[in-house]
Formats: sequence, C-alpha cells, structure tokens
Amino acid sequence: MSDMSATVSKTPNGFAVAGYEKLEYNFAFVEGIFNLSNGQMAQCYEKWGRVLTVLDENMKNLYGDAIQNYFDHYNLPVTFHAMPVGETAKSIETLLKICDSMTKFGIIRKEPVLVVGGGLVTDVAGFACACYRRNTNFIRVPTTLIGLIDASVSIKVAVNYGNYKNRLGAYHAPIWTFLDFSFLKTLPTAQVRNGFAEIIKISSCADIKTFNSLDKYCEKLIETRFGRTEGSDPELRRVADELCYDAIFEMLKLETPNLHEIMLDRVIAYGHTWSPFHELQPNPPLRHGHAISIDMAYTATLGLDRGMLSQEEHARILNLFSRAGLSIDHPLYDDTAIEKGTEAILKTRDGALRLAVPSPLGSCEFVNEFTVQDLQKVLRLHKKHAAKYARGGDGLEAYVDASDTGEPTPAPSSNGHANGHANGNGYTNGHSNGANGHSNGVNGHSNGLNGHSNGVNGHSNGVNGHSNGVNGHSNGAKAAAGKRAPVQDAHQENGGIDDLVNEAVPVQRVNV
Ligand SMILES: NC(=O)c1ccc[n+]([C@@H]2O[C@H](COP(=O)([O-])OP(=O)(O)OC[C@H]3O[C@@H](n4cnc5c(N)ncnc54)[C@H](O)[C@@H]3O)[C@@H](O)[C@H]2O)c1
Ligand SMILES: [Zn+2]
Repeated sequence: MSDMSATVSKTPNGFAVAGYEKLEYNFAFVEGIFNLSNGQMAQCYEKWGRVLTVLDENMKNLYGDAIQNYFDHYNLPVTFHAMPVGETAKSIETLLKICDSMTKFGIIRKEPVLVVGGGLVTDVAGFACACYRRNTNFIRVPTTLIGLIDASVSIKVAVNYGNYKNRLGAYHAPIWTFLDFSFLKTLPTAQVRNGFAEIIKISSCADIKTFNSLDKYCEKLIETRFGRTEGSDPELRRVADELCYDAIFEMLKLETPNLHEIMLDRVIAYGHTWSPFHELQPNPPLRHGHAISIDMAYTATLGLDRGMLSQEEHARILNLFSRAGLSIDHPLYDDTAIEKGTEAILKTRDGALRLAVPSPLGSCEFVNEFTVQDLQKVLRLHKKHAAKYARGGDGLEAYVDASDTGEPTPAPSSNGHANGHANGNGYTNGHSNGANGHSNGVNGHSNGLNGHSNGVNGHSNGVNGHSNGVNGHSNGAKAAAGKRAPVQDAHQENGGIDDLVNEAVPVQRVNV
C-alpha cells in the first residue's frame, strides 16, 4: 500500500515536484495457512469472490490439492498458474505467461494475485505484478527457508535477462506476506541448508542470541526442518520459531531504512563479497548457501588475522558451518577467485571493499584496507584451518541440481568441481570441466576435453567442449587478457544483496 504526498512549485523556467510515498506492508506468522480452520487467507479474497494463484510445478504437485480444498471450503473458485521450476524459468518469458494468465482471468484493479513458492516464484510473479498495469497487488506466501527469512523480507522482485541475474526488476511490496513455516516439512535438506547459511550470516553480524541458538541446536534444526517434521520436539520448534522471528526482525531493521539500496555498507553483505564470482566457477555451480558459507568462513579468518575475532569465535563460526553440512572451502576458491572476485565487487561497491566482518561475534565492522596480496596470504591460512574440519571443509550436497536450475545437470567431475578457471582472452568466466585440469579459453571458448558449458538459451553445445561465448556462461563482455570485466555497470549504484549474489557473473545453465 502506498500513499503519495507531493508539492508542485514554479521555478524560473519550469516546475519542481517534491514528494514522498509512504510504504506500508505487513507480515503475519501463520501456522497452516491453507488449513480449513484458518480463515485468514479466505478473508483476503472474500471481497473478490475468487483467487488467481501462481506457484511452481513442484508446489502445485505438493500443495495444489490442499489449496483447492481450502478455497472450495470457503466457496472461492481458484485458478492455478503453475510455472516451471528452477533458475532457468526466472525469465521474461515466464513473466509474460503469468501476465497472460492475469489477462485471461480478468484480474481487476486492486485484486491481489496469490503467489506461493520459494524466492524464485515470489521474484518472478512479484515482478509480473509490478509490471501488470504498472502495479497489481499481490499476496506472498514464501515456502522455502530462503523465501521465509530472506527473499520475502525484501520488496525486490526480478527476472534474469541477457545472461545477467536479476537484470530486470522492481521494488514492489506485496500487500501481505504470510510466514508459514509448516511448508518446511516438505523442503529438501539441501534447500534448508541454503536458508540456514543466511541465518548464520545475519546472526553472526547482528544477533548473538540467534547465533547461540543455531550453535546449540544446529543438527536438530536441519534434521527436523526447524521443528516441522512429524514428531519433532515442541521445544525445538519453539526455539526454531523464536530464532527465525528474531532473524527476520533483524533483517527488516537493517534493510528497511535502505529499501532502495542506496547505502553500500551493508551488514547483510557478509558472505557476499567473493561468492558472486566463485559461486558459478564449479560445474555444476555451487548452491548459494555453500558459496556464501565459504566466503563467510574465509572472511572470519581475515577477522582472526586482523585481531577482530578471537580464536574461539573464529572456531565457533567455522564449526557451525561444518556441522550444518555447509562448505567452508573449495579448490576453486583460490588466488584467482580472490583477485577476480575483488575486482568485480569493487565495481559493485563504488570502489571500496566494504567488507562486513563479524567483530566481535554478533556485531559487525566494515573493512576497506585489504590489498589483494593480503587477501591471498590469508587465504592460505584459511585453507589450513578449513582442512581441519569434517570433510576437509567440503559441504554436503553442495552443487545445484535440477530442483534449483530446472534442467538436468551433469554429475560433478570426479573430484567434485571443475578443475580450474577458464582463462579466455575474450571471456574470462567460462568454466568447463577441463579434463586436463584447466580450460584454455581463447576468444571465449573453453576447451575442456569433456567440458561442455551451457547456453542460457539452453543449448548444449559442445562436441569439443566449447562454451558459448554469447549465450553461454562465458561472460559476454570483452575483457583485456586476464581481466574480468563483464558487468561493470551491473549494480554500481546500489548493490542489492540478492543481485550481488550473482550479478557479477552471468546466469548460467548447465546442460548435459
Ligand atoms: N528478492 C530477494 O530479495 C531475494 C533474496 C534471496 C533470493 N532471491 C531469489 O530467490 C531465488 C532462490 O529462491 P529459493 O532458494 O527459495 O529457491 P526456489 O524458489 O528455486 O526453490 C527451490 C526448490 O524448492 C522447491 N520448493 C519450494 N518450496 C518447497 C516446499 N515447501 N517443499 C518442497 N519443495 C519446495 C522448489 O520447487 C524448487 O525446486 C533466486 O532466484 C534468488 O535470486 C531473491
Ligand atoms: Zn544470499
């Protein structure tokens, strides 16, 4: 809901307009939003006498009947629009199909679309609502942990475009967000870990009480999907609810004064400095939660080296990631990743590193004064620390699969990662499964023996393992040799965290 007040005055050669728009949007915690006994959602639609629901195909299969029964019970005819699953569906084409469904449905002014799903669905359908008639209302029901504690806390909506993550988007607040953690009971563990990493992020920089709870109940929280699986201990669920409530509150307090992301020193950027570059280096790429955990663990080691974190605090952070099955290191998190990641993030953050470092644990300081050489030196120290943890610092289920991308993905190479960065003269981000341990990019081709990289347009291309310079995940901008320069203007002026995650490198798909 918004309320604009403005003044118009005459100037010597024109007019000046000044105004502000009041934003109001609400969150409600609900258990079992589609339980027949729960009338809240039905009330929202009583006035309209019908409902258009957008969800993805997985959610339609899992919850379609329950949603249908719910609205039948309340005598509200429901129409479903089921969109494809995965990052490849985060496109303008998917958005247009949602708009077509709105037209077919004949959505009328102020009638809200019901959007049910993970961050992907709420981003795409939310953006469809932002565009449709310039502004269509929506009600948001996040169903993943990322959705519940991260994506749905913001008002950013977007689709990927032209190889770039979230390139087209808007700030568009839903009229309601219903936070129903009971959806977590069907969420795969790997997706729970993704969200867990974001809660570690916020708590280690802003909320020691939440960090302590994560630390105390880590394995149980993940195993029971935050106390939502059948037979979970009610006390655990109470703890889970409390810590999620606190984490969301903290996120809202930190981010709402900066809704349009004007300020660049952002606590919630912890873990999102080198990960945007690194996340897409392996083939298949890392899950977001693992990429940011590596970045956070390494940043904690930088904090230790600077005396900003004690040894005990540092060990607590790394140990928590490790116990959660999250990664704390990766073979491709190397000097190159540090150098290229730094170069990319400096552009996004207006020339300064603005590195959020937990210091002391539970609060945060920003540091700018690292040189790339400092960073690389500490990386060696970090690798020594990481090696001491379970799995040598590797995570569990660390790589994306079809549930994230919407497409079949190749099995990770034998040692679980692509062997080396591509070093193309023209395009520096192509990564391929170079059987020789590296890809030798020339003019945008990666020449891994078995490597085929993949086009955003869905080609699998590679007899000889070429990556598609234009449509593939080699970066589309021409860079000087050894330099990575694809997205200079990616997000200069703001640096939304979600965009930071991936804007530094183009969206990619992995085709077999
Ligand atoms: N707007 C923002 O501020 C913001 C913040 C963070 C992330 N994002 C965006 O969110 C997207 C990632 O979202 P995500 O991590 O929620 O993943 P997602 O929406 O892709 O969902 C992950 C998988 O879980 C399935 N799923 C969803 N809910 C389920 C449930 N309750 N039970 C079983 N399966 C379920 C989905 O069908 C999908 O296969 C990215 O595109 C990212 O850019 C946006
Ligand atoms: Zn993130």
